[in-house]
Amino acid sequence: MNRRAAVFGASGQLGVELVRELEARGYYTAGWARHQLDITDAAAVERALASAEVEIVFNAAAYNQVDVAEKEPLAALQVNALAVRNLALACRQIDARLVHFSTDYVFDGQTSHPYTEDAPTHPLSAYAVSKLAGEVYAQAYLGQPLVVRTCGVFGPGGKFTARGNFVELMLRLAGSGRPIRVVEDHVASPTFAPWLAARSLDLAERGHCGVFHIGGGTPIAWFDFARMIFEAAGLRPELTPTNEREYRTVARRPKYSALSNAKMETAGVEPLPPLRQALEIYFAQRDARPS
Ligand SMILES: NC(=O)c1ccc[n+]([C@@H]2O[C@H](COP(=O)([O-])OP(=O)(O)OC[C@H]3O[C@@H](n4cnc5c(N)ncnc54)[C@H](OP(=O)(O)O)[C@@H]3O)[C@@H](O)[C@H]2O)c1
Repeated sequence: MNRRAAVFGASGQLGVELVRELEARGYYTAGWARHQLDITDAAAVERALASAEVEIVFNAAAYNQVDVAEKEPLAALQVNALAVRNLALACRQIDARLVHFSTDYVFDGQTSHPYTEDAPTHPLSAYAVSKLAGEVYAQAYLGQPLVVRTCGVFGPGGKFTARGNFVELMLRLAGSGRPIRVVEDHVASPTFAPWLAARSLDLAERGHCGVFHIGGGTPIAWFDFARMIFEAAGLRPELTPTNEREYRTVARRPKYSALSNAKMETAGVEPLPPLRQALEIYFAQRDARPS
């Protein structure tokens, strides 16, 4: 009999890759996009999981509007925290494992080395607080959840989602013909969604639980990432560096939020290939998928 899995947030960048990866590995996979199932509806979550009879549940659904969350912190909390409680309770009912995704933004960025899982958390924004609360809910209600923190997710599915991703934003700005300014004093480890999906499933299949970091493995300033994107895309827009002093955002963001994958690698999961390779695959897959 096939193994059975469920994916919430199945039409997001990560969700589509999780469904693809699970199906490729022979799982019967039930996936719900937001319009099919809103995870803030506790009864709907419980009903869906009870009838799907799955052994593992992936939560790729999230409220990701970091700046908007400063105006509507409750909306972020409902999806990123309280709804995780719904999922955890429903998983407990059917004895399923929960794999939940969190963020590098649980850290304050006051470092210059990739964050390990045992680093103290200190969220700087309403979005970040809501995501940290989601981790806590998963751990409060379940004995062995797997919480995967990731960073700067980009997958070819981002071409079609409302939120998009950094690569799509850069392509859009290049298309506008206007000069592009990107911060050079914020460093992250952008993460390719298909590899994130595969490594998360690798960890889950090996029975790991607790908090794991899966970042792209290449700490890079957003300005340098933008340059790499344009090189990979064969574009030459006018790109200049800026900094957080000149480019203010509504929400505070960690200046340095690259994640260390050392714990994942020690657990026997393959390291992620170089970021440049991810971009080459990104563009090949993006162009191959119908608009
Ligand atoms: N994107 C990043 O840069 C980034 C960075 C660090 C961590 N993460 C984390 O990585 C995970 C995957 O992110 P992603 O990049 O795949 O995000 P994404 O592309 O924005 O996908 C999130 C999905 O969640 C859905 N969703 C939102 N509210 C929902 C609700 N109430 N019920 C059900 N579905 C809901 C969205 O649907 P709609 O589009 O219809 O709203 C969307 O399909 C999330 O946990 C995120 O917090 C992401």
